[in-house]
Amino acid sequence: MVPSNIRKFIFHDLRSVEGYIDPPDALVFLSLLESQRQHGLHGGLAEIGIYFGRSYFLLKKIAAPNEDVLGIDLFDIGNMSDGISDQYRLFLEHGDRLGLPVDEDMLLVGDSRTFSAEEITDRVGTVRFFSVDGGHSLPNLVSDSHLARDTVADHGIIVFDDTFNPAWPEVTVGMADFIRDNDDAFSTFCMTKYKTYVCRREFHDFYRAAIEQAPHLGAFELAETHFLGCDAIRLHNPFSRRLLYELMTRSGMGALSERAYRCQ
Ligand SMILES: C[S@@+](CC[C@H](N)C(=O)[O-])C[C@H]1O[C@@H](n2cnc3c(N)ncnc32)[C@H](O)[C@@H]1O
Repeated sequence: MVPSNIRKFIFHDLRSVEGYIDPPDALVFLSLLESQRQHGLHGGLAEIGIYFGRSYFLLKKIAAPNEDVLGIDLFDIGNMSDGISDQYRLFLEHGDRLGLPVDEDMLLVGDSRTFSAEEITDRVGTVRFFSVDGGHSLPNLVSDSHLARDTVADHGIIVFDDTFNPAWPEVTVGMADFIRDNDDAFSTFCMTKYKTYVCRREFHDFYRAAIEQAPHLGAFELAETHFLGCDAIRLHNPFSRRLLYELMTRSGMGALSERAYRCQ
């Protein structure tokens, strides 16, 4: 899949799936996954917290055709009929509509706290990119971060969603506890308005450089920040650009919205 098609997907198709990833983080996902591929850093992809599949389908779109994306969710939103929720049905429909059909063998349906690391690695092998976006309470974060730690490859990335969001304060506590409780094994290399990107310390500089040099991120200001013993890059997306993007998409100019995020 050529990146221009993926950019088109990010700016045209992603918003058709109800959910929570926006272009800046979608471009960070793309940049990191491309960098891993270019450097032969293999592994599966996984996400806890699918909702209707916005970031799940982004991962599927970026993944190579032979790469699997494992998804974990309660899938209990909406009415149930024939044992299937509205959420699950709509998720499958989005996959068919987007030309990214869901492989149901790659789904673990239920509370993420009940699944083992082996149930993940048996399906996708060790994981190179793990998105943690399920339950937002501290017990969920403790369990989900451990599941991610126990399944990622040495070069694996763990992405925590909704960090520093006052609506979900325990996400930040859980993410920070994870970094502090793991003997300095993990460090933060990138932070955006919504997400915190973590990897093993040995790969910190590699992924920092991947962000600094990513062609897709040229439109952003990259600021330095310091978090729990590590220098991380903070991706700054000015209010003016966010506003322009929202105005374009809400006024029917979605096809042009990609221009708001083009490199200067
Ligand atoms: C914020 S949404 C995920 C958003 C999604 N990643 C996106 O891109 O739109 C959180 C999801 O986590 C799921 N969830 C909440 N608690 C969970 C748990 N304990 N185990 C598995 N999934 C859970 C919910 O069903 C919901 O679909």
